[in-house]
Amino acid sequence: MTDRSPRLAGKKALITGGAGGIGSAIAAAFLKEGADVLITDLDDDAAIATAERLSDLGRIQGIGHDVTSEADWRTAVETAESTLGGLSVLVNNAGIWVSGTVEDTDYATWKHGLSVNLDSVYLGTRIAMPLLRANQPASIINLSSIAGLIAGPNIAAYNTAKAGVWMLTKSTALAAARAGDSIRCNSVHPFFIDTGLLEDVFSKDGTRKAIGESERDRLARQTPMRRLGTTDDVAYAAIYLASDESGFMTGAELKIDGGISAM
Ligand SMILES: NC(=O)c1ccc[n+]([C@@H]2O[C@H](COP(=O)([O-])OP(=O)(O)OC[C@H]3O[C@@H](n4cnc5c(N)ncnc54)[C@H](O)[C@@H]3O)[C@@H](O)[C@H]2O)c1
Repeated sequence: MTDRSPRLAGKKALITGGAGGIGSAIAAAFLKEGADVLITDLDDDAAIATAERLSDLGRIQGIGHDVTSEADWRTAVETAESTLGGLSVLVNNAGIWVSGTVEDTDYATWKHGLSVNLDSVYLGTRIAMPLLRANQPASIINLSSIAGLIAGPNIAAYNTAKAGVWMLTKSTALAAARAGDSIRCNSVHPFFIDTGLLEDVFSKDGTRKAIGESERDRLARQTPMRRLGTTDDVAYAAIYLASDESGFMTGAELKIDGGISAM
């Protein structure tokens, strides 16, 4: 397929958590396929620096944005309209790792985990919907996790939030279809992907510390394919879901998990 046109030509994409591992890989992949991109992140300096780093690939801008804030969401969507000229792809990617059993998890930690990982997707979908409707065919891609489908004893808030993202995706998809809108909504469920978030998995005190090969090996051994996922593994799936190639796919879950959920 060497003579094909870019798969995302004309698409206008907003990616949250765009300074992080998966978000920045999706941004780079979208730019290479011809989309215009706005990345947002809680860390505004990192959002701006990431956009600068990727600017050779295409048209991209970075801004600060706390996905738990309704006001920030309104500003982000307005910025998409003013800088991209509309919005046809929303990637709800920002998220945080939250560890702890249900008894270990205090109420503040629970609420913060649910707010960043789940309420954010509700807010973004609701606030972006009118602009997506004005730019059909449109696509919403929600980063859930294998942890949204398979529980662990020590990630009560993370499991709950990611399972919520999975169902919210389906409800959003069905509502858009019933309204006759060409706005598709699908969820992506990675297993261990080699980003900074894995450092949080091993953290004992909530601060990020670099992990070594032995920790990576420990995680890799848990997957049937015996390796960690790469950010490109997720970005390739996001290209497909953002493009019109996935035009008959909505309310679906795409697992990028090295086979773990097949067990
Ligand atoms: N890495 C994995 O193994 C893995 C597996 C399954 C699912 N996921 C999901 O993929 C998504 C991306 O994760 P990642 O691995 O790239 O992690 P990451 O830590 O590299 O990136 C996450 C980004 O989200 C941003 N962020 C955090 N809180 C925010 C907030 N309140 N508002 C806006 N931005 C905020 C961070 O600043 C960071 O840049 C997350 O939703 C995560 O749960 C990751």
